[in-house]
Amino acid sequence: MEFSRKSQVFKTLISAIFLLELLRPNVAFRAVGLATSTITFPALNCRKHSAVLTDFGGIGDGKTSNTNAFEAAIMNLSQVAPDGGAQLIVPPGKWLTGSFNLTSHFTLFVHKDAVILGSQDESEWPPVALLPSYGRGRDAPSGRLSSLIFGTNLTDVVITGNNGTIDGQGSYWWKLFRDNKMTVTRPYMIEIMYSKHVQISNLTLVNSPSWNVHPIYSSDIIIQHLTVFAPVDSPNTDGIDPDSCTNTRIEDSFVVSGDDCIAVKSGWDEYGIKFNMPTKQLVIRRFACISPSSATIALGSEMSGRIEDVRVEDITAINTESGVRIKTGVGRGAYVKDVYVRNTTLNTMKYVFWMTGDYGSHPDAEFDQNAFPVIKGINYRDIVADNVTQSAQLDGIGKHPFTDICISNVNIKLAAKPKGVQWNCSDVQGVTNRVSPEPCNLLPRKEIDCPFPKDRLPIEDVQLKTCSISGNF
Ligand SMILES: *[C@@H]1O[C@H](CO)[C@@H](O)[C@H](O)[C@H]1NC(C)=O
Ligand SMILES: *[C@@H]1O[C@H](CO)[C@@H](O)[C@H](O)[C@H]1NC(C)=O
Ligand SMILES: *[C@@H]1O[C@H](CO)[C@@H](O)[C@H](O)[C@H]1NC(C)=O
Ligand SMILES: *[C@@H]1O[C@H](CO)[C@@H](O)[C@H](O)[C@H]1NC(C)=O
Ligand SMILES: *[C@@H]1O[C@H](CO)[C@@H](O)[C@H](O)[C@H]1NC(C)=O
Ligand SMILES: *[C@@H]1O[C@H](CO)[C@@H](O)[C@H](O)[C@H]1NC(C)=O
Ligand SMILES: *[C@@H]1O[C@H](CO)[C@@H](O)[C@H](O)[C@H]1NC(C)=O
Ligand SMILES: *[C@@H]1O[C@H](CO)[C@@H](O)[C@H](O)[C@H]1NC(C)=O
Repeated sequence: MEFSRKSQVFKTLISAIFLLELLRPNVAFRAVGLATSTITFPALNCRKHSAVLTDFGGIGDGKTSNTNAFEAAIMNLSQVAPDGGAQLIVPPGKWLTGSFNLTSHFTLFVHKDAVILGSQDESEWPPVALLPSYGRGRDAPSGRLSSLIFGTNLTDVVITGNNGTIDGQGSYWWKLFRDNKMTVTRPYMIEIMYSKHVQISNLTLVNSPSWNVHPIYSSDIIIQHLTVFAPVDSPNTDGIDPDSCTNTRIEDSFVVSGDDCIAVKSGWDEYGIKFNMPTKQLVIRRFACISPSSATIALGSEMSGRIEDVRVEDITAINTESGVRIKTGVGRGAYVKDVYVRNTTLNTMKYVFWMTGDYGSHPDAEFDQNAFPVIKGINYRDIVADNVTQSAQLDGIGKHPFTDICISNVNIKLAAKPKGVQWNCSDVQGVTNRVSPEPCNLLPRKEIDCPFPKDRLPIEDVQLKTCSISGNF
């Protein structure tokens, strides 16, 4: 029934197209069946020029490498950057590729039936310089591999789609990492460095070799409508890691991963202190997370370039290790200050509140033993949590307490077998109001609603334009 109705509709459609073609003057008759369709999507800027990966020899069979096709396409399209820019469409198919570089005034559009597949051939992943604010690689002291989609020193770059997929095929890298065989640092899925006006949106990212989305030393960034999936036991598959970035908006996204769903960073110990580039003016909203052994949102542990003015709201976390977590240690220096979190709904976790002042994890032995990080002005309000093992584990640094902590309107329901001590606090100072279970003595009660900024960050007022692509898909 269903089939015959469909074929009936199909026949009618064919006849209609046939008729239209006959009626069209001065146009040669073309093969029927592949109608041109148009997809509209929001972007920072629309492009004057458009190309499809197949124009550059791309083969979407899931087996042939398209690294050269991507490079050739983007090289070619970079020529029109001064003339209205270009968009490269990744059409339906499976597009195996190694790492490739983006260009400015450029849009990479991944069609919903397209999958970009990360190559498992290591020669497809060229080395890139170590990050100056880290001093060494995260997986190994020297050397790191270029991210699958990489961009540096760009302006106005969009990576989007109508929910197209980028599959890092990370299992190859996870095995090397677990077997302790990495001699260089694993590639990330998407890394954008020293860039401004960046958009990453409407994509599904699966199985990244390591971190998924890593904007670093960049500003004016919009990340929205991302779905990120990695096995919950996969190593270091952080979702989104804004790192030494200014004016960033992360919204309407969902991460399931083996590490922190979002990790806010700014460089590591003496290298980060020297590089001194903060993450500031960050808004995270309407975000959901599943990550049983990691944080919903982590601040740190690498925070040596400073983190300030972070605004988090409307968060849902199910089965995570903690809500928002602050991680730092002696040697990091710098500060984390002016953090505002409101309206979070949490279910099943070890700790709702977690601050760690002795995280350890140093790049080398050269870190400054007197570089004490300052943690102050941390505000949480309007939180409901259910099935919680321990309400709070808050550990500042001896003689360098974390100060100006404010927690209000919090209702935590405990798990069947909760910890006996619900609030375990040391070296912290601040206040609480209307918090259950009863907080520790270091956070006495005060009649207050913890603040949340009323002004807007510049990135919140950036409007996206309506752009389109057309093609036979
Ligand atoms: C690359 O760009 C040039 C214009 O500089 C154009 O003539 C050429 O057709 C393009 N190549 C491909 C494969 O589209
Ligand atoms: C990609 O960019 C990196 C960093 O600038 C550079 O080292 C590399 O040569 C570029 N790759 C290509 C194929 O242009
Ligand atoms: C990119 O920008 C940084 C910072 O301005 C600069 O140090 C670096 O040399 C630039 N790299 C390239 C490839 O232009
Ligand atoms: C992007 O995702 C949002 C939320 O799912 C959806 O409403 C919107 O239509 C998507 N845009 C495109 C171009 O698919
Ligand atoms: C995008 O695709 C993922 C994976 O198939 C799916 O879970 C998600 O709901 C999709 N999002 C939209 C807006 O269609
Ligand atoms: C709180 O966040 C949830 C989504 O996480 C949203 O549905 C709800 O409207 C928000 N409440 C307020 C008061 O903003
Ligand atoms: C509560 O949390 C425990 C783990 O601590 C988990 O096994 C259990 O499924 C959760 N129960 C509900 C109702 O979510
Ligand atoms: C409280 O936290 C400290 C670490 O600061 C830990 O050593 C201790 O075991 C905890 N106490 C309880 C009762 O959980």
